[in-house]
Amino acid sequence: MEKGVVWYRSKYGATKRYAHWLAEAAGFTCGDVKKYKRGEEQPYQTVVFCGGIYAGGLPGVSHWQKMNLQGKRTAVLCVGASPYDEALFAEIKQRVRRGALEQAACFYARGAWDESAMSLVDRTLCRALIRSLQGKDPKEFAPWEAALVGAAGKRCDWTDRAALEPLLAWLRAGEVGT
Ligand SMILES: Cc1cc2nc3c(=O)[nH]c(=O)nc-3n(C[C@H](O)[C@H](O)[C@H](O)COP(=O)(O)O)c2cc1C
Repeated sequence: MEKGVVWYRSKYGATKRYAHWLAEAAGFTCGDVKKYKRGEEQPYQTVVFCGGIYAGGLPGVSHWQKMNLQGKRTAVLCVGASPYDEALFAEIKQRVRRGALEQAACFYARGAWDESAMSLVDRTLCRALIRSLQGKDPKEFAPWEAALVGAAGKRCDWTDRAALEPLLAWLRAGEVGT
């Protein structure tokens, strides 16, 4: 495989785990995007970003705008609590594929859920969201809503190395975009 780097942004560790698994499998360098220094992407042909999803967004993606990714293969792995849902992922993809990431290949993997490990702000936000969903008819739940209500108050870990297979296949194939 080409020389590559994996950058991640992870609040609670699931995305970081995926980033290290991926770097290990691909033989890439791995680092926290918060420590990114200008020009560090320069020696790599392939740049992968792994980001946790928080309230539908990938906050770490803003770091990409500082990078010069011209001529490089780029991919984004989005990590969320929701099971894979095509419509939801299409929305996330649209948000991610802007500016320097317009050509990025996008992938999804399921992360983890542990309210006891969350910051007070995040826990309050997540509990408020779950409470608002509990008033709704479960038959009308979107997949991510059902997953959130099901995970309420529990510790869940859906991380799985096998979820990286499509991204690893993309890396091996040398394709651009998905
Ligand atoms: C404040 C907050 C908001 C979240 N919003 C979403 C969301 O919109 N969709 C989703 O699938 N997961 C959501 N999650 C779940 C996280 O994506 C999941 O826990 C993931 O594993 C986070 O990655 P991390 O462990 O690397 O921080 C949210 C979690 C928190 C704490």
